[in-house]
Amino acid sequence: MNDTNMGREKWSSKIGLILAAAGSAVGLGNIWRFPYLTGENGGSAFIIIYLACVILIGVSVMIAEWSLGRRTNLASAGAYKKHSKSWTFAGTLGVLTAFLILGFYPVVGGWSLAYMFKSVTGLLNSSDIGAEFGNFIGGNFEPLAWMVVYLVINVFIVARGVTQGLEKASVIMMPTLFVLFILVAIRSVTLPGAEAGLAFLFKPDWSSVDGATVLAALGQAFFSLSLGMGIMITYGSYIPKEGEIPRNAVTVVALDTSVALLAGVAIFPALFAFGMEPTAGAGLVFAVVPAIFAEMGTFGPLFSVIFFAALTLAALTSSMSLLEVVVAYLMDEKGMARKSAVAITGVVLTVMNILASLSMGLLSDFKIFGVGFFVFFDYITDKVFLAIGGFLVAVFVGWFMKKEDLKDEITNSGAVKFGLFEAWYFAIKFVIPILIAIVAVTGIMSLEEKSLAAFGVFVVLAMGIFSKKL
Ligand code: PHE
Repeated sequence: MNDTNMGREKWSSKIGLILAAAGSAVGLGNIWRFPYLTGENGGSAFIIIYLACVILIGVSVMIAEWSLGRRTNLASAGAYKKHSKSWTFAGTLGVLTAFLILGFYPVVGGWSLAYMFKSVTGLLNSSDIGAEFGNFIGGNFEPLAWMVVYLVINVFIVARGVTQGLEKASVIMMPTLFVLFILVAIRSVTLPGAEAGLAFLFKPDWSSVDGATVLAALGQAFFSLSLGMGIMITYGSYIPKEGEIPRNAVTVVALDTSVALLAGVAIFPALFAFGMEPTAGAGLVFAVVPAIFAEMGTFGPLFSVIFFAALTLAALTSSMSLLEVVVAYLMDEKGMARKSAVAITGVVLTVMNILASLSMGLLSDFKIFGVGFFVFFDYITDKVFLAIGGFLVAVFVGWFMKKEDLKDEITNSGAVKFGLFEAWYFAIKFVIPILIAIVAVTGIMSLEEKSLAAFGVFVVLAMGIFSKKL
């Protein structure tokens, strides 16, 4: 450790970084969001574009974010600001993005927690499981109560600090999730009629692909890998000096992508085997999966509990990391103590999530920028801020950090070989910013929610102009 490292908590074991980063990456994004986006965007073609985004852009941006974090030894906002105050906004935008994702993520986390219990209390015996889901999420009390339970668990873990809380929880949760999911996937592909689902997943139909599809895939890649908003910058600042950046980045990306594909393989074959619709939308996992389990007979409830336990665990390790970004910001930049930062954030988030949850019931007529609160928090982050955040981090690392410094950081001052350094550097400096810019501009312009897109872009511009005051 060098001097500037003193006093900052670091991951206590080598595997700690991988597990915590994979814990952040693997979450509702893989299991709840990836399948329904795949279903809505026509299946295989979307998956191929998604994989291209992950491999061409995701891995390189992961390496860039970790290097930036470890080099500066600061969480996202501080890392940019250390270079120049004109860049402060890029870090603060990430914190804002994390905060807004946390405006709806615990709602879905709460659904998952609830479904873990409902799996054994009669949900699977219902004659219309899809309608049950609609009634459940539109409720004024039940989903709010589960959301609060979920949020409290979250706050409690983050309040305990990096190694005590985040790392310990991840070490237990991640392997459990993986094993559970493989069981569910095996059951799904062995159902009679599973072939149609596999064809949907692996035989591309390019006819419905447009700019918005590619933006959805890019946004999903950033969302799923926890990139473009400072999480991996912040986690990078906890990587010990001897941690190997490139190899760990590939491992984490591979883990994240396999869980998403596993979720697809777990859901679609069974879905087609039972003659259901792949376009069920955000309710896909909750409305369709329990229905699939219900038809499995004796073992159905067991599989269902396992499934939602895994989903809840995956969600928790992700939202812990989101909360960590906000908390690290309040600690590093505003000098708050960890406990008070967590407490204050927790209270504000509770209010936001109540609004998000009620936007599917009581407040369903209330619209901001043409959509309800839940969709607003989701779209503005996933379809606008993350792509811009990814663009900014690539430009910053490629053009404003010294090449020698990057090489030094990525190779641990020469101790680790990284033969692809030049290729990576070229990609992060030229190829990736251009690619993201093209996808973001065409994608944002083709969004149906025009006022929301305009508002998002306006917020980023305003933050950029007032960067020095942030
Ligand atoms: N990657 C997480 C998921 O897939 C969500 C997330 C997004 C976490 C952005 C952190 C940052 O569910």
